Amino acid sequence: MRLDVVTIFPDYLAPLDLSLIGKARRDGIVDLHVHDLRDFTHDRHRTVDDTPYGGGAGMVMKPQPWGEALEHVAAQGDSRPVLIIPGPGGERFTQAMARELAEQPWIAFACGRYEGIDERVYEKARETFDVRVVSLGDYVLNGGEVAVLAIVEAVARLLPGVVGNAESLVEESHEDGLLEYPIYTKPAVWQGLSVPEILLSGDHGRIAAWRHQQRLDRTAQRRPDLLAALAALEVEPGVEGD
Ligand code: ADE
Repeated sequence: MRLDVVTIFPDYLAPLDLSLIGKARRDGIVDLHVHDLRDFTHDRHRTVDDTPYGGGAGMVMKPQPWGEALEHVAAQGDSRPVLIIPGPGGERFTQAMARELAEQPWIAFACGRYEGIDERVYEKARETFDVRVVSLGDYVLNGGEVAVLAIVEAVARLLPGVVGNAESLVEESHEDGLLEYPIYTKPAVWQGLSVPEILLSGDHGRIAAWRHQQRLDRTAQRRPDLLAALAALEVEPGVEGD
């Protein structure tokens, strides 16, 4: 999978050299290219922002450097890439979207800063890219970079060969609409706290039933909205449809 990121802070993406994603890059599973938006400016100060038309607080990212940067990215291949523009006004990023994106051969990311990017850049980009404005959640970050780190990690770990044990991808929170059950490792007693007896019983049927109940209880307590969404779909919690 090819990934292109355009940002005014290329160093922000340095963590993508680490851990499983770093290894995926070295193994050739992920081909990541980070571009500095300021390389597409033509003035001495490498200006990327200006005051908003119509007034208002803050600065807006200028269309010219974005137009040239995205043209440069699009010229790197001959297919039509997805372009993700992170922002609090976008559609919510979910595990389902991560799965969808993991099928794509090429994803580009445009990291906005300040109050955001001139709206005409979105319009122009739609000629060349499948544009998606994506939000991590209902809060405001200073820019798109942290969102890109999160989205790239969530997507890249779904690519074959990135996570060693593919089974560990199946039993995760958000894969079937329920949160994960609690997990424990040795020792059986730590600082006076015991592992639930049933997990030491060796009775796999009862353990599976206990875990399922824990998932239901946890989801009801922490994320009742997820249970409500399953109910609306008439899906039995924790049972995958086809
Ligand atoms: N940029 C600023 N806030 C954001 C958010 N909530 N999600 C994604 N990108 C953002």
